[in-house]
Amino acid sequence: MTMKNLKGLRGFLIDAPEPGKLRGIRDGAVLIEDGVIAAAGPYDEVRRTPDAELVRWQHSSEAVIIPGLIDIHAHLPQYPVVARVEKALLPWLRRHVFPVEKQFNAATARTFAPFFFEALARNGTTCAMLYATIHEDSCDAAFAAAERSGMRIILGKVMMDSGSYGGLPAEKILPRSLEQSERLCRKWHGRDNGRLEYAFSPRFAVTCTEELMREAGSLARKFDAYIQTHLSENHNEIEMVRSLFPRHPSYTAVYEACGLLGDRTVLGHCIHLGDEEIQLLAESRSAVAHCPTSNLFLNSGIMPLDRLLDAGLRVGLASDVAGGPELDMWRVMRCAIESQKARSFYQTGVRVPAEAEIFHLATLGGARALGKESLLGTLDVGKEADMVVLDLARVLPYGERGNVHSDLSAEEVITLLIYRGGPQAVIETFVRGTSIHRAPPPLLL
Ligand code: GUN
Ligand code: ZN
Repeated sequence: MTMKNLKGLRGFLIDAPEPGKLRGIRDGAVLIEDGVIAAAGPYDEVRRTPDAELVRWQHSSEAVIIPGLIDIHAHLPQYPVVARVEKALLPWLRRHVFPVEKQFNAATARTFAPFFFEALARNGTTCAMLYATIHEDSCDAAFAAAERSGMRIILGKVMMDSGSYGGLPAEKILPRSLEQSERLCRKWHGRDNGRLEYAFSPRFAVTCTEELMREAGSLARKFDAYIQTHLSENHNEIEMVRSLFPRHPSYTAVYEACGLLGDRTVLGHCIHLGDEEIQLLAESRSAVAHCPTSNLFLNSGIMPLDRLLDAGLRVGLASDVAGGPELDMWRVMRCAIESQKARSFYQTGVRVPAEAEIFHLATLGGARALGKESLLGTLDVGKEADMVVLDLARVLPYGERGNVHSDLSAEEVITLLIYRGGPQAVIETFVRGTSIHRAPPPLLL
């Protein structure tokens, strides 16, 4: 008889299977078998299931257990230059981003990529879709670090053949960029049973020729890999795209003409879209990465979240580090609410999202945007056991001494986390039932 690989976690289970509704089970439990959720429900029921007899239960009814947070757009090599203030996107890219990306060689990636994945796990993020730089070797090293970290990662080498920092003559870049991207995709896409995947990553229309974008699109389709790029983030960027591609009616139409839209495509920002552009995204089933902290930090604008959701678009949340100054998805959730509140002060008819709706976007919404809703995003039986265990005492005003959280509702818990949560609240992070981060026990004062 083979031994089953079983693990049991106990705590207040909270997830958001629908946009505005939370599901909460106080003193609940999750039984994990071979990395998959085998049972979830009240602790008293789950511990009586036959498989649960031998399980040593971890954590306690005091803990909170949620699905892992999903960050669908960030730039790994940019982490060292967070919080560099500039007036707008394009000067910020020139002054801070391109210089740090240019230096991101294989040695730098080997040193820093493991810290980046640790930081994600420490923040309770279990799955992230990331950009590397234009370099093949450092992207390869970052993938190797992702493999060792246990995180669920989608990553791609940045492609740009116009205005790049690479120093190659333009005509040489395109074949090389395609060849390198294809090699990385062949090596990493689907690795470890799909835990690592590849995203073809033409940076944005400002730094890509039509030919590059078309070829990137067809490679992604050939390998059934993802596509990620930026769309409609900043007014000067939109103007540049208009003058570079005058034959196309809009920024989104450029991507559509190049075959970059589709159900495996994630577009960052999408702040200033016209109705026809939103329609193009909806018809192509493309997904949107909403990056509210970055949109404020870089003075880009406020995304009309209700308009995009009402059009039926799949929307996930994203830190967009280093456009956003932190990886903490609770801050991103808070900003997603507060930026819509700000919009509602000067525009009529704005729907401000409730906390439960934003938590849904950071979990199942992100999973949907990545086409992974059958695998991730809730605590349903049969899903992969990507989850976070939190200590609510670490966000309460009087900590352990407060002793008021035993009667909080699921809505109150998630609201506390959105307004006061962060890495300090994370006790343990799991991907496929494997612990990838465990916080040291708190100091007893
Ligand atoms: N548009 C093109 N590249 C970038 C980038 O690195 N960050 C952000 N926020 N926008 C971009
Ligand atoms: Zn970005």
